[in-house]
Amino acid sequence: MPRRRRNFLALGVLFCLALVVAGCTGGSPIAIPTPSRPPSDLPELSRSAGIPIGTGVNDARMVNKNYQQRVLDNFTSITPANAFKWENTEPAQGQFDFGKPDPLVQFAVDHHLRVRGCCLTWRTQNPAWLESGTFTKAQATAIMRDHIRAVVGRYKGKVAQWEVVNEIFHTVNGQLAPFNSVWLKTIGPGYVADAFRTARAADPNALLFANEFGNDGPGPHFNAFYNKVRALKLAGVPIDGVGLQMHRGLQTPTVAQVEETIRKYAALGLRVEITEFDIPLPLPPDQQALEQQGVLFGQITSVCLRIAACTGITFWGVDDNDRYPAIRTSNRGAMTMFDEMGNPKPAYFAVVNALRAAPAIKRLSGGPPAG
Ligand code: XIL
Repeated sequence: MPRRRRNFLALGVLFCLALVVAGCTGGSPIAIPTPSRPPSDLPELSRSAGIPIGTGVNDARMVNKNYQQRVLDNFTSITPANAFKWENTEPAQGQFDFGKPDPLVQFAVDHHLRVRGCCLTWRTQNPAWLESGTFTKAQATAIMRDHIRAVVGRYKGKVAQWEVVNEIFHTVNGQLAPFNSVWLKTIGPGYVADAFRTARAADPNALLFANEFGNDGPGPHFNAFYNKVRALKLAGVPIDGVGLQMHRGLQTPTVAQVEETIRKYAALGLRVEITEFDIPLPLPPDQQALEQQGVLFGQITSVCLRIAACTGITFWGVDDNDRYPAIRTSNRGAMTMFDEMGNPKPAYFAVVNALRAAPAIKRLSGGPPAG
């Protein structure tokens, strides 16, 4: 019997004994402390199904041992939610700071977790010098390439996948358009291909992804992004996969639409990962919403499991405390598999059941664990 399960059984016996004692003595119910971590079958199931199950990790909370333990108890892959972003890694031009990502990558190496790197270029969380500087196209290209070489080079062999571009489209006045990021403004649309080529040269073994929101189902956002990645692929740009963020509500897109979307990208010869899966709910969540959320977590996990090109599922947050600002300000939350005490929610059990029923297919590799 694995040690974790033995420990859990022992805890369970103690728990029952405590209840019996309370019952026999007729005293007031004993306040049972919430176990600091739930029993979890996820890492074992992830490994036997051959699919990394990941989490976005909050860099500040990662100094906490209980948080680290929760990561280890439940996941086989991590995506540092902020540590790799430019504001942290190049706070002054040409001055790199790896103080935030280094310990997270080392943690992954020590515990054989896979690492996804987010993100080599993005429209936000950039340092002020980059956002407000004036650069020629040649200067901006050099800045971008130097950064990618420095970051990807440092973690060569340790970061399995890079999100080379993140969120390149958005809707303005009802029209879908490329996001007018610092990169588009200074370099033009060619920055995307350039970033992929630079990353490939810096670590030929890392898998390179374009990550996007709002492309998990049909619509203008999907069309624009699909056409873009198709064009990159046809032009021989070294893109290996597409990330579907999967920040979503309880209604749309439907599970069938998600499946169709993943299959369309797979048909281009790309890997697909679900990269930031969460379902924020209005707070406080009612039981029905939590159950609906669970059903969707399970169904979308199953979709990924039956497609060979779907190489990983990352949930955005270790537990419901990991609320990021966009959902905090709209008073939503309860978006992960574990509540704020770390107790498993219906979503956890649904994901476990989906993994237990995983079809035996030969899945493409989402990249090795670090170290
Ligand atoms: C979020 C982080 O989780 C937050 O901690 C941070 O304040 C903002 O960014 N889409 C993305 C992620 O691509 O990088 C974002 O992560 C969530 C939305």
